[in-house]
Amino acid sequence: MLLRSGPLMLLEKMTRPLRAVAVSGGLQRPSRAATLATYLLDLIASEVACDRHLVELGCLAPDLAGAIWRNQLPDTVECELVAVEQADILVVVTPVFRGSYTGLFKHFFDFIDQDALVDKPVLLAATGGSERHALMIDHQLRPLFSFFQARTLPLGIYATEKDYLDHRVQNEALVQRAQLAVERALPLLHLSRGRGVDATGGMAAA
Ligand SMILES: Cc1cc2nc3c(=O)[nH]c(=O)nc-3n(C[C@H](O)[C@H](O)[C@H](O)COP(=O)(O)O)c2cc1C
Repeated sequence: MLLRSGPLMLLEKMTRPLRAVAVSGGLQRPSRAATLATYLLDLIASEVACDRHLVELGCLAPDLAGAIWRNQLPDTVECELVAVEQADILVVVTPVFRGSYTGLFKHFFDFIDQDALVDKPVLLAATGGSERHALMIDHQLRPLFSFFQARTLPLGIYATEKDYLDHRVQNEALVQRAQLAVERALPLLHLSRGRGVDATGGMAAA
């Protein structure tokens, strides 16, 4: 394997397309969390040229749920973990379950290398059945990504059923908030692309 290091690796990172990765914790299909994650990815892509990738935890659930160590996971899950670790910007969207992120959402991030998200911009979002749990973004999601020393963006995005029409985001206030959140993320994007772990060589098991 050709090992790249120092200036060559930095040059490669600075010239490759930006990577925008979203993780949807939605477990059902269609999923409002996945719809919102896709919407936010598309918004980012409308502002800056980037490769988009959506990780749908509902699809990974059978392979993910029974594992304790990262080396027990099949390649399908490992590839998604690497995509998250190598992202220049991360969008995370979880359904609210019992006032918090879902158990599977936490389980997925338990496998992420604890240094892989340092300084990575992370846009926090959630979908709930009720508006009463909008603060779970700040009380539950934000502390999780603080553990990873990520740069969580100040504006979180919270959506409920009334924000959708035919499985599409349609509420104007939500649209504007999402736009503002993305605009405020852009200055951080170019800072983050030079950082990050070399996932082919630098990942330890969680
Ligand atoms: C087990 C379970 C627990 C839930 N707990 C909450 C809750 O505490 N607060 C809330 O607002 N919605 C709650 N909901 C509603 C979900 O958040 C909502 O259905 C979900 O955000 C829809 O997104 P999805 O289509 O991606 O699943 C719960 C749903 C389930 C299945």
